[in-house]
Amino acid sequence: MGIKIKSRTLREISSISEMKDISQSLRKQNLTIGFVPTMGCLHAGHLNLVKRSLETCDRTVVSIFINPTQFGSNEDLDTYPRQLESDIEKLETIGADILFHPTKEEMYPPGYKTSVEVQNITEQLCGKSRPDLFDGVSTVVLKLFNIVRPHNAYFGEKDWQQLAVIETLVEDLNLDVAIIRVPIVREADGLAMSSRNRYLSPQERQSALSLSRSLQQARDNIRRGTTSAKAISDSIRQCLSEQEGTEIDYISVCDPESFKEKEQIRGRTLIALAVKVGPSRLIDNCIIEEF
Ligand code: PAF
Repeated sequence: MGIKIKSRTLREISSISEMKDISQSLRKQNLTIGFVPTMGCLHAGHLNLVKRSLETCDRTVVSIFINPTQFGSNEDLDTYPRQLESDIEKLETIGADILFHPTKEEMYPPGYKTSVEVQNITEQLCGKSRPDLFDGVSTVVLKLFNIVRPHNAYFGEKDWQQLAVIETLVEDLNLDVAIIRVPIVREADGLAMSSRNRYLSPQERQSALSLSRSLQQARDNIRRGTTSAKAISDSIRQCLSEQEGTEIDYISVCDPESFKEKEQIRGRTLIALAVKVGPSRLIDNCIIEEF
């Protein structure tokens, strides 16, 4: 992705009230606000979201907040990569306008009691193995939307289920924000961009390529006429298991909106994977369009 050098300076804000005042003032001036929520450790996938916002909106706000409520007690909250200085440089280079990076205490002060739950589409796939994930995501995203008050918010399709949860949250709670889906950004060798890729050793990174490779094989098999979901997930399982150090969390062949498992691949279908490779839990997916 070509990165444009912009002259505007990045404004850093950590206070909720200051962020709210700025959003209010931008809205009063009829300027559109694009928003990219992140947990930092920015890679080309995040920067692509920022670029999309810069192309469409008058001002672009990026948040960096490692949200503790979406991590389970046995997950990687403490070791989640943090690199604020280089994130700021990347945001300055690409020309983002505002970085909102509140502290944990600012977002969840003592006495904080509220959680938001989107039902039915949060129990499958990632929600099954990470039961705290989607309540934490829904809660923090709703809070961030209320603080930043964006016109548009940009999310990557790598987190397909997260996107569906956020779209449902916006629709069900009548939030005044357009959710913009942005396709997965991959490394040249096919690995989907993720902040967690940096935990991988060279050997693990090789093994991690089996995620995108197995999805590509599945697509090829479907194109050649395979319609059995079991045959597809068996071939993915075999491709993933051949690699050293991989531990499959799930392989799902399902409806892309309800996440109900399919027996036959008919109509639009999501194939989604979560695999632990060394210390990193990686996800990837592809959509089989109706054929
Ligand atoms: O996708 C992420 O990075 C996070 O889940 C999000 C949307 C920033 C909420 O913490």
